[in-house]
Amino acid sequence: MSKNKLIVGNWKMNPVYPKEANNLFEKIKRASKKFKNIDVVVCPPSIYLENFSKKLKTKKINLGAQDLFWEQSGSHTGYLSGSQLKNVGAKYVIIGHSERRENGETDLEINKKVKASLQNIMKPIICIGEGKRDKDGEYLNFLQDQIRKALYQVNKKDLKDITIAYEPIWAIGKNAKREPKPNEIEEVRIHILKVVGDLYKTGGLPPVKIIYGGSVNKDNAEELLKSGVDGFLIGRASLDAGHFSKIIEISG
Ligand code: PGA
Repeated sequence: MSKNKLIVGNWKMNPVYPKEANNLFEKIKRASKKFKNIDVVVCPPSIYLENFSKKLKTKKINLGAQDLFWEQSGSHTGYLSGSQLKNVGAKYVIIGHSERRENGETDLEINKKVKASLQNIMKPIICIGEGKRDKDGEYLNFLQDQIRKALYQVNKKDLKDITIAYEPIWAIGKNAKREPKPNEIEEVRIHILKVVGDLYKTGGLPPVKIIYGGSVNKDNAEELLKSGVDGFLIGRASLDAGHFSKIIEISG
């Protein structure tokens, strides 16, 4: 497992115009000359992947998709398969983002997607996160359940290619209630390692990467890294090349 920090930009359904998307990508590419000891992944809307991958001469940036479907091909209107996404340059794929879970994506579907991504040699970034925190620690059970279901029948040898993104829903997006404190993220980071370690009986620490997502920006990145996470999943701040690069610089 690479010791580099992993910084993932999730562009979500932005930008609307290809020209804007190209400009943003070019700027990130230019800034990448300064990226050191860091794995950067840009996850644009899939329609932009092929074009970006053709232009990608630097190994300092990887491309990722925001979702995939578990079948390889066939009569599945509107879906994109792992092999299709891989063939246009995606090396990573975000799975189970809360915005998709909110629209009905189930743990079972997420599990199928995790397996499909691994089958296609794409690295899954599995999102988990509680809606709210209770004093009794029930959210830890909730997270355990999400992890176990996402990893159901996933091989131990694949753990090294898996990233778990802790994204508390209360901290995501422009309606975020507040930012978490580093110790709140750290608690969950340790919890995830324990849950995965117990599940696979790894003895020592399981080789999964754990990143944090939710309102990460250039002003709080340094503080949030104190939680010991292996990187960030970034939404809004990834749409501004300067801002995104600054977070990368801070994390490197
Ligand atoms: P945000 O989004 O950085 O805009 O809060 C994070 C995410 O949804 O992954």
